[in-house]
Amino acid sequence: MKKLKVGIIGCGTIAEGQAIAAKQLKNTELTAVCDVIEENAWEFARKLNVPNVFTDYKEMLQTDLIDAVYNCTPNFMHRQVVVDAAKAKKHILTQKPFANTLEEAQEMCEVASENKVILQSAFFERFRGYCQAMKKCIESGEIGKLKMIKTQMSHAGIGDFYYPKTKWFHDLSLAGGGCLADMGAHHLDLMRWLAQSEVKCIDAQIDEAGTGIPEKNAIVNITYQNGIMAQGHWSFSTIAPEGVCYDKFELYGEKGTVFVTWDRNNAPRFQIVKKGDLQWTDYPYEEIDGFFAMEKHFADCILQHRKPMTTGYDGIKSVETILAAYKSAVTGERQYLE
Ligand SMILES: NC(=O)c1ccc[n+]([C@@H]2O[C@H](COP(=O)([O-])OP(=O)(O)OC[C@H]3O[C@@H](n4cnc5c(N)ncnc54)[C@H](O)[C@@H]3O)[C@@H](O)[C@H]2O)c1
Repeated sequence: MKKLKVGIIGCGTIAEGQAIAAKQLKNTELTAVCDVIEENAWEFARKLNVPNVFTDYKEMLQTDLIDAVYNCTPNFMHRQVVVDAAKAKKHILTQKPFANTLEEAQEMCEVASENKVILQSAFFERFRGYCQAMKKCIESGEIGKLKMIKTQMSHAGIGDFYYPKTKWFHDLSLAGGGCLADMGAHHLDLMRWLAQSEVKCIDAQIDEAGTGIPEKNAIVNITYQNGIMAQGHWSFSTIAPEGVCYDKFELYGEKGTVFVTWDRNNAPRFQIVKKGDLQWTDYPYEEIDGFFAMEKHFADCILQHRKPMTTGYDGIKSVETILAAYKSAVTGERQYLE
């Protein structure tokens, strides 16, 4: 089988998860890694048995050692890495949040398109079993016409729950946002994908909005163009048992309701109730490792010349919604998107 040769840029926290998944793939070979902090790059390469190490990603991009990159750099670097990789004709799987501004997001897509490379947004949740099962419940008509979506992702905060290797996360000018940009990015993509519609308008309440500090709590209400309503709740200041992140997804349809709940120490519990049922039923589904499936899909798309399931355009739409939510919170006004 032909294998996609991949180089990782940014050998930090998320890169390790992505590399572990890549190592299990039959269609991918991890051939190089790069980090500006030399020690990070070498430690990572030794731990994950990767043969080539760089400290300048532009040097790595000029070699034939790689066909594609996983962009695992901090948020403020996403644009530059994507643009440079695309110009070097390397395909890119880039972490979320896709970009910190809409201009950055648009430029990333334009340059990828001009250079005819695949730019896939790393919205790995879409590939997970519970998300595929939610999509199936909607598309099969099992819960009837979808009316409302509610989500939650909340944990005890940066440094308690999630540990980036470097310090960019607490600086708003580098991170671009707090819990909304970080965790909301996943759910906003999922909600749009499940609603199968673009955002019409958005209202948000966000603590710290406009203060120059990344927010710890955000509640966002959305109406999609097709009338579906959605609410997301994301938090970095939720009291939770050690290592626990509360995750919830609720789908309200005309004929049924879906509740998915989990806390990271356990697999998602997927329950369904249909009109007339006297109790909840556990819904059978197979959980899938999101990183494994996302990276396999990335390589398949490149090797088989297919369009990815999560594109740069999906990245643009998520950035657009995040920025509209910040604007709504600061101005106190509902934001309408085209
Ligand atoms: N999908 C998810 O659930 C998830 C979870 C955590 C983080 N992330 C995302 O992954 C990205 C990285 O986060 P992290 O937690 O791994 O951060 P991190 O700080 O742990 O790692 C980033 C690494 O990039 C390196 N780096 C910075 N500039 C570089 C450059 N110019 N060239 C090469 N290397 C460079 C840093 O030295 C560091 O080692 C962020 O965008 C974050 O939002 C996604």
